[in-house]
Formats: sequence, structure tokens, C-alpha cells
Amino acid sequence: MSSEAVRQEEQPVPPGSVLRYTFRERAIHWTAGFSYLYLLCTGLAFWSPWLFWLAVVFGGGQISRTLHPWVGLIFSVAVCFMYSVWAPQMHFTDLDGKWFKAIRFYITNQDEKMPPAGRYNAGQKALFWFFFYGGLLLLLSGLILWFTESLPWSWRYLRYAAILVHASVALLSIGNFMIHVYMGVFAERGALNSVIRGWVTLNFVKRFHPGWYKELIGESSAANDLSRRE
Ligand code: HEM
Repeated sequence: MSSEAVRQEEQPVPPGSVLRYTFRERAIHWTAGFSYLYLLCTGLAFWSPWLFWLAVVFGGGQISRTLHPWVGLIFSVAVCFMYSVWAPQMHFTDLDGKWFKAIRFYITNQDEKMPPAGRYNAGQKALFWFFFYGGLLLLLSGLILWFTESLPWSWRYLRYAAILVHASVALLSIGNFMIHVYMGVFAERGALNSVIRGWVTLNFVKRFHPGWYKELIGESSAANDLSRRE
């Protein structure tokens, strides 16, 4: 049995639907999602006095400053788990190169002119790798800032670099995060259900992931052929 077929058996789904995310994948995703939101709000509060009210909402400056690095560790662990469940499916292929070249059709909703995306389109893969490598940089620079007083004075340049890296990657992540939420919640209707209940309709798959649709249909007709022969 293929790994896709094994996945599909994990949880019953309504007729005409397929399982996109297992319970484990959803739990990992939301651990990353909620911890990121906390880091975003408290991080912005530390970044600008204009946004300090965000820290007040989360219990005050002292509590936010204490919890921010710990929640950062939770986010990093979640990103590592994300890597372990999704990295094999996120490698770029030749088709992804064509997908990027045709991105103007994607932006202007002319999906029929796009190369057929598989389970993940090239944009989703790029987001995944950004969060993985960006998460790594945020963790490393964050650790330096957390234990900055233990660093000898002669290593102070590491401290300056950490401030620059932490703030720049965090700001870039906000841009990526906004695109991600917009795409998942508003542009690709049905995607949000997949990270909540796990499944998507076959119509959703056909429209947004035609390559994956072909795989699924191919598998189900092969399974039917087999059961007819038995
Ligand atoms: C908290 C707000 C968030 C919302 C509302 C949200 C929404 C979604 C949705 C709807 C999907 C399913 C997309 C699909 O399969 O077509 C998804 C998948 C995914 N999310 Fe999130 N997400 C959030 C936070 C995050 C964060 C912080 C990260 C990064 C660590 C992240 C990384 C991913 C990845 C890698 C996927 C799978 C590939 C993709 O669809 O991009 N998400 N998310």
C-alpha cells in the first residue's frame, strides 16, 4: 500500500473528500501557529515603543520579556517537527521552477494557465523552507540575545549581528506570515478546514493541486482494477 493510501486510512472523511493533514500534522501546525502569534505580538512590543501596548495585553513587559524566549523554544521545536513530517514532500522540482515563472497567472486567478501543482505548490514549499531556515536563524540569534551577558566583551560583534539578524528575519517572517494567512484563509477557500478538521474536498484538490488530484485518481482507479481482478 502506498504512503498516500496509508495516510488516507488514518481518519474517516466525508464522501468526496480526502485527508490532507493528519491529526499529528495539525497539532504541530497549530503549536507553531499559536506560538508564532505570541512571539509576533511580544516581539513587536519590544521593537517599538509605539507597540508596547501589545506587551501590556499579554500581561506586562516583565512577563512578556520572560516568556518570549521560552515560547521561542516551543516554536523552534514545532518547526523541527514540521521539518520531520513535511520536508520530504517539500523538495523543489522542475515543475516548481515553471510554477514560479507563471506566478503572474496565479496572482491574477488564471489557475488554468498554471503548471499543475502537486500536493504543495511552489509558493507553499518556499514558505516552508523560509520558516525552517528563518526559524533556525531566529533561534540562534535569540539564544545569543538571551544569554548575552555571558558573552565576553571581545565577542560583542556577535551580539550586534544577533540584533540585526533577529529583527530582520522577524520582519521578513511577518511578510511571509501575512501572505500565508491570506492564501490559506481567504484565497484558497477550503484550505482552512484542512488544518482544522484535516480534510479537503476533491473539488478543492482538482482546482488548487491538479497534480495531486491526478495521483489520487490514478491510485483509486488502480485500486478498483485490483479489486475487480480479485
Ligand atoms: C496562526 C495563523 C496561521 C494560519 C491561520 C494558518 C493557516 C494555514 C492553512 C489554512 C494551511 C493549509 C494550506 C493548504 O494546505 O492549502 C496551512 C498550512 C501550512 N502552514 Fe499555516 N497557518 C498559520 C500559521 C503558520 C505558521 C506560523 C507557520 C510557520 C511555522 C505555518 C506553516 C505552515 C506550513 C508549512 C503549511 C503547509 C504548506 C502550506 O500550506 O504552506 N503556518 N496553514
